[in-house]
Amino acid sequence: MKSVICNWKMNPPTFTEAKRLFDVTKKLAAVYKNAEVVIAPPTIFLRELAKGYRGTRVEFSAQNIFWEESGSFTGETSSIQVRDAGATYVIIGHAERRALGITDENVQHKVPVSLKGKLDPIVAVGERVRDTHGEYVHEVRNQITTALANVPASKFKNITIAYEPVWSIGAPEAPDTNSVHQMMLLVRKTIADAFGEKKMKSIRVIYGGAVNNENAKDILSVPDLDGVLVGRASLDPYRLEAILQAAHDA
Ligand code: PGA
Repeated sequence: MKSVICNWKMNPPTFTEAKRLFDVTKKLAAVYKNAEVVIAPPTIFLRELAKGYRGTRVEFSAQNIFWEESGSFTGETSSIQVRDAGATYVIIGHAERRALGITDENVQHKVPVSLKGKLDPIVAVGERVRDTHGEYVHEVRNQITTALANVPASKFKNITIAYEPVWSIGAPEAPDTNSVHQMMLLVRKTIADAFGEKKMKSIRVIYGGAVNNENAKDILSVPDLDGVLVGRASLDPYRLEAILQAAHDA
């Protein structure tokens, strides 16, 4: 089953609008049953959306957590708090967080903390630029091995790697499907090399960056890909429906 992670980022502006978007997404999730639907709303909306939801088709994700479980960390949110609010997933190391200063080491700390808090981590990796010397391969491999360094052996099955090249996030177009496939293979090979074949097989690998109604079908047919992480298009019911349908049919 393919996953569609709806990353709302810092949208929409009010709870009323968030509720409306949630209701539409919920209905679409009930129609396209052959896709896993995860919504990552702003933290402030998480509890109320989760509390009002009686179904089982939608799961909730936080967009970020802190790397400590509690304490004097003004403005931060812990894994235990977002789990208590209804999340079962958390996005860790999104490019927009990395741009605000999160390092590979911070990501490494957050992953086991999220697992301990009963949240399945969606670990975002991706190169900033696609250079011609292959430096980007090194960058992505390093992000992955650092992020997963402290994951207990039995927990690899709870991990999703979201490969999101930074240059495609918010861009008009996604990379071609060949390039996406090559990166899916690179992610899997990196995990197999560093942690072994068995753990590689238990991890899910998804793609994110400029996924929309026009390219979703092609992207979701890429071999070795378990789903997509969607930003802008997850805010638009028309575009979202096409993506969920593509995931359902894939
Ligand atoms: P986008 O964002 O779909 O708007 O490009 C993707 C992401 O940041 O995860």
